[in-house]
This record gives sequence, C-alpha cells and structure tokens, in this order.
Amino acid sequence: MSIRVKTENAITAIVFDRPDKKNAITAAMYAQIADTLASAAEDPAVRCVVIHGSAQAFTAGNDVQDFLMNPPHGEDSPVSRFLRGIAAFGKPLVAAVCGPAVGVGTTMLLHCDLVYAGESARFSTPFTQLGLCPEAASSLLLPAIAGYQRAAEALMLGEPFGPLEAREMGLVNAVLPDEKAIPYAMTQAGKLARLPASSLRVTKRLMKQGHAEAIARQMAAEGAEFATMLRSPEAREAFSAFLAKRKPDFAQFS
Ligand code: COA
Repeated sequence: MSIRVKTENAITAIVFDRPDKKNAITAAMYAQIADTLASAAEDPAVRCVVIHGSAQAFTAGNDVQDFLMNPPHGEDSPVSRFLRGIAAFGKPLVAAVCGPAVGVGTTMLLHCDLVYAGESARFSTPFTQLGLCPEAASSLLLPAIAGYQRAAEALMLGEPFGPLEAREMGLVNAVLPDEKAIPYAMTQAGKLARLPASSLRVTKRLMKQGHAEAIARQMAAEGAEFATMLRSPEAREAFSAFLAKRKPDFAQFS
C-alpha cells in the first residue's frame, strides 16, 4: 500500500506508506491524495486533515523512476491536481514530519496550517541539483516566510537542513522527539476538529485570500518551467545518476 487514508473523530489522516522507497510519491499516489483532499473538502463530517509518513520518513519527494517514465503533462496531471488542491484546501491542514522531507515533501508544508517535526526531520529542496526549478509556489512562499537569503540557500544550493533551522525559518511550529511528532499532530488536529468549523474556515480564508491569486499564478509559472526542465538533459542525467547510485556529471552541459 502506498497511501493509507483513515477518517476517525472527524479527522482524515493521509499517510505515506511506501517504506521501501522512503515514501517517494508516484503519479498514482498524487492522484489518490488529490481525490482525498477533494472529498474531504466536500464532506461535512471531515473537520481537519493530517498528512504524515512514519517515524522514519515523511517522503523522499517525487518518485524519480515514475517521473522519468511518465513525466507529468499539463494542469490535469495528478501532481498538478495535488498542488492546486493542497493550496486551495479550505479546512485545517496539519502535517507531521520525521526523517527525509525531500522536494515536494518540504514544499507541500508551505500549504499546511500547522507543521510538527520530529528530531530526525531533514528538509531539502534540491531542485537545482536535479536540473529542475522550484514548485508548489515555493519560489514565492519560502522567501516570504524565511527571507530571501535563507530561501535562496534552500532553493539554490538545495542542501538539507534540520528541524531547528526549519523552525527558525518559520516552516515548522514545534520540534518534538520522533515518536511524539505524529501523536502531537493528531492531538492538535483534535483541538481544531472540536472548534467551530465555520470559524476556522473563515479564519483560514482571511489569512490566505490576499495571496491566493499570486500563489496560483506562481504555481502555474513554475509548473510550465518544471515541465520543460524535466525533459532537459540535465534532469535526465541527475535522475539516471540517482537510479544508478552514482554522482551526476553536469560538466558536459553548458
Ligand atoms: N524516487 C524513487 N526511489 C527513491 C526515491 C525517489 N525520490 N528516494 C529514495 N528512493 C529509493 C532508493 O532508490 C532506494 O531504493 P532501492 O532500495 O531499491 O535501491 C530506497 O528508496 C531507499 O533509499 P536510499 O537512498 O537507500 O535511502 P537513504 O536513507 O540512504 O536516503 C533519501 C534517503 C531520501 C535522502 C535519498 O533516498 C534521496 O535523496 N532520494 C532522492 C530524493 C529526490 O531527489 N527527490 C526529489 C525528486 S524530484
């Protein structure tokens, strides 16, 4: 199983469950999350959504093999539907992160309301190392929350950073021992689920509506660049190198 979905006590948990591949996300998994978010948005019985992986891994980001074999096409691709869905989701969204949170594993957090990290959490946005560019409107949202230089370090160098730095950057609310991160996220979700749903919806809408159009525009612009770059020789070299467990050689490209 790759994504588990369970609704209990008005909370829908979306769980990455592909431990042998560090919870890397395939197109089928994106489609399942996008569909789950869409039905959670419509279902009055769901008052909060929590996204988490295991105490060992959040997600290694896009599945490299799947990306190479089936590069996403256009706005109806599962990854695009997922990104638009998470950005527009109107109910409270909580995440718990332990272990690697690579690429979209980090950028999706910019669309969550509350984020809790275990001590092992390792965030990274290695888009340039993969011959790619940022997605999920992270090129707009990360500079906005963390400041330009810190965002440039994360998005241009792409080196991993830990949970304390993520908290300083404003990306996570609190850092906990790994075994407590997911239970704590569920506790916070429980508090949200007991509050008046309409009040939370309006509060979230008010916080987000001033930026919604800019986020949608940025996501579309990033998506167009990303789709082109995914087919570039640099990205193919990076992905082939990852799958062959060797270092990429970008010196051959000008
Ligand atoms: N896509 C496909 N497979 C992936 C993957 C990904 N994004 N991330 C990890 N895997 C696979 C590995 O190939 C390996 O498979 P194998 O056992 O069949 O060889 C397995 O998951 C375990 O990964 P491994 O690299 O051995 O674990 P690690 O603990 O040493 O490192 C990561 C974990 C996440 C730091 C490392 O796997 C990584 O950097 N992954 C690539 C992430 C990435 O570039 N994502 C963005 C894509 S746009």
